[in-house]
Amino acid sequence: MPAPDRESSNMTTELKPDLGSPGTAVVITGGASGLGFATARALAAVGRPVALWDLDATRAADAAARVTAEFGTRAIGLGVDVRDLAAIEAGAQATLAQLPNVGGLVHCAGIVDTDSLDGMTEESWDSGIAVHLRALPFLIKAFLPSLKAQPGSAIVATASINATLGNAVNPIYSAGKGGILSIVRSLADRLGRDGIRINSISPGQILTPMLQPSVDALPQGYFEKRILLERLGAPEEIGRAVRFLLSDEASYITAAELVVDGGNISSQR
Ligand SMILES: NC(=O)c1ccc[n+]([C@@H]2O[C@H](COP(=O)([O-])OP(=O)(O)OC[C@H]3O[C@@H](n4cnc5c(N)ncnc54)[C@H](O)[C@@H]3O)[C@@H](O)[C@H]2O)c1
Repeated sequence: MPAPDRESSNMTTELKPDLGSPGTAVVITGGASGLGFATARALAAVGRPVALWDLDATRAADAAARVTAEFGTRAIGLGVDVRDLAAIEAGAQATLAQLPNVGGLVHCAGIVDTDSLDGMTEESWDSGIAVHLRALPFLIKAFLPSLKAQPGSAIVATASINATLGNAVNPIYSAGKGGILSIVRSLADRLGRDGIRINSISPGQILTPMLQPSVDALPQGYFEKRILLERLGAPEEIGRAVRFLLSDEASYITAAELVVDGGNISSQR
């Protein structure tokens, strides 16, 4: 096996903060909403071009236009269903045609099942696992030549506190997110030799369109009573953490899980 190319992993002893380095483009799945959109805004705020992928091309393009209007940074939007491996391949080609210097990838697309074991079907299982878990290695394969060519490339996969906590409501989601933690460690071993870092992020309860129906349905303060910081998280608090993991500030961090949950997994309340 060839020796790792330390230069390409952007090893730095620089102490001045530089969250915008490397300045390569970043692809974000699920980029039209919630945590994906907040991540796109965080990256654009430090000048990194972004490609927002989402199910609906118009929503993705609208979100990209809002990012460019707010920060003046290049942003494009594409309609890609990440459950479809051919669509991932076509989306990668279309993205690279417009942004040839892709050096970051954030897999944030997601859905949550709410039917527990009793309502699980073959279709709901296949769909949930495909969007969260199966998409990740194929996204990486589609962008590998570009990630390899750009110094300091990094990947962030969105897991969840549900990868660790047991919740009867969403077994498919929990399985997909648990798989993310494991496959990230395996992929980190493969990608390290190419100077590419990969980490997972596990958000706690963050107020996005995905969480809102649960907040509306449950008694007031239901989630907050367990959380050590006694509040839900804001999407920007995840966007900033992802931006850090993608930056040279995190140059020696790979194969890690960054839990950003306000003190939830660790809570005994
Ligand atoms: N909000 C939270 O509290 C929370 C906590 C932990 C983890 N997460 C994870 O964060 C990620 C983002 O969630 P969010 O809260 O921003 O939800 P969200 O619903 O606001 O955004 C998810 C986006 O993913 C897109 N999407 C869904 N299926 C897709 C597919 N097959 N292909 C492409 N795009 C698809 C949706 O259209 C949507 O725009 C998800 O992976 C979710 O599991 C969220």
